[in-house]
Amino acid sequence: MTRTMQHALSRRSAVLKLASFAAAPAIAMRPVSAQSDFRLELEPPLRSRSRVSGIKFGCAGGAPNVQPDRILLEKFAIEADIFVPEGSLKWETTEPQPDVFDFSEGDSIAAFATRNDMLVHGHTLVWYAAIPQWVAQLTTGQAARAALERHISTEVSRYRGRIWAWDVVNEAIEPDDRLDNDYRNSVWFRCLGAEYIDLAFRLARAADPKTPLCLSDYGIEYATPTAQRRRQSLLALLQQLRNRNTPIDSLALQSHLNAHQVFDRAALTDFLRSVVKLGYRLAITELDVNDVKIAGSVPERDLAVARHAAEYLDIVFSVERPMSVATWGLSDRATWLRMYYKRADGALLRPLPLDADLNRKPMWAVLAKYMTA
Ligand code: G3I
Repeated sequence: MTRTMQHALSRRSAVLKLASFAAAPAIAMRPVSAQSDFRLELEPPLRSRSRVSGIKFGCAGGAPNVQPDRILLEKFAIEADIFVPEGSLKWETTEPQPDVFDFSEGDSIAAFATRNDMLVHGHTLVWYAAIPQWVAQLTTGQAARAALERHISTEVSRYRGRIWAWDVVNEAIEPDDRLDNDYRNSVWFRCLGAEYIDLAFRLARAADPKTPLCLSDYGIEYATPTAQRRRQSLLALLQQLRNRNTPIDSLALQSHLNAHQVFDRAALTDFLRSVVKLGYRLAITELDVNDVKIAGSVPERDLAVARHAAEYLDIVFSVERPMSVATWGLSDRATWLRMYYKRADGALLRPLPLDADLNRKPMWAVLAKYMTA
């Protein structure tokens, strides 16, 4: 056996250990090769596992018509059941001027998805960000309601039948905005109050009676006062929406994780149980693990990222198997995190299942295990 093969096998055994003992407190950090693990490359793709488990795997990316990275797109088709438009279905892209729609990117994704037997996760209809100037400048309830009615019914109707689920309202909670009930101070809230949430879901349901509708949020995983507050306010909102029969099917757990932070396992479990008890399904929709503060070699960082993902998936799956798991990007070569986080050592971040050369990493092996759980 060559040295490289020995390295690959020792890495493989570390990965398998990791996948089997998700919540195990310690995993030996063996010296392993930074090269591709050929054994992992021989495994069937993540999407093949959904046929067994029913849990779909998705990943976010740019539309084929504006995306020069054909090889990355090929990997999407190989690994994913669901294509998540990272920006192509956001308001600033689809309705840049009032009643002037541009679905070229969304259509390109939908066509790619159809060609490759994938579905599309609709992301996202109502957000405080990625809106054009004319939306940001709305000031009255009447104008905001008219804009929501036109936008939601047009976009949702266009893709009816091709969407796996819709993120209808994105990030409605922001404790730092200091509003009652921790609502986010968005243009929608300023014009319509908290009513905008119920309105948005009813409009989406009217345009597509069958597709699951999600409320999406982030920042609820860790043992910090902020996360505790977010869990509490999000649960209160979900309870209130349930009380008024707002048509929401699922809580989309964005799951932007930080490998250096500590989960509040008990509180997160309680929160997720309460959400499920209210009748919501869970979906993991934007998983990535930021290794900006993880020191060490590449294999050590990759194991830290994988362990963190495994611990998180273990918490969620111990409450309920989610309807889907999606990562926010597929390869380290294209991650939004690079826009905002730089490592002290200047190395590139490694938050996703494939490395920048499109090799499968330990995080991929963790996902593979949970996709068949
Ligand atoms: O397209 C321009 C490009 O022409 C220009 O050269 C470049 C210079 O910075 O900017 C490009 O646009 C950027 C776009 O991403 C594509 O990379 C925008 O400035 C940037 O604001 C945009 O950021 C996106 C962000 O949402 C805002 O829409 C990120 O890609 C996207 O990953 C991020 O996704 C959000 C989810 O929707 C909601 N949850 C959090 C998640 C991460 O922030």
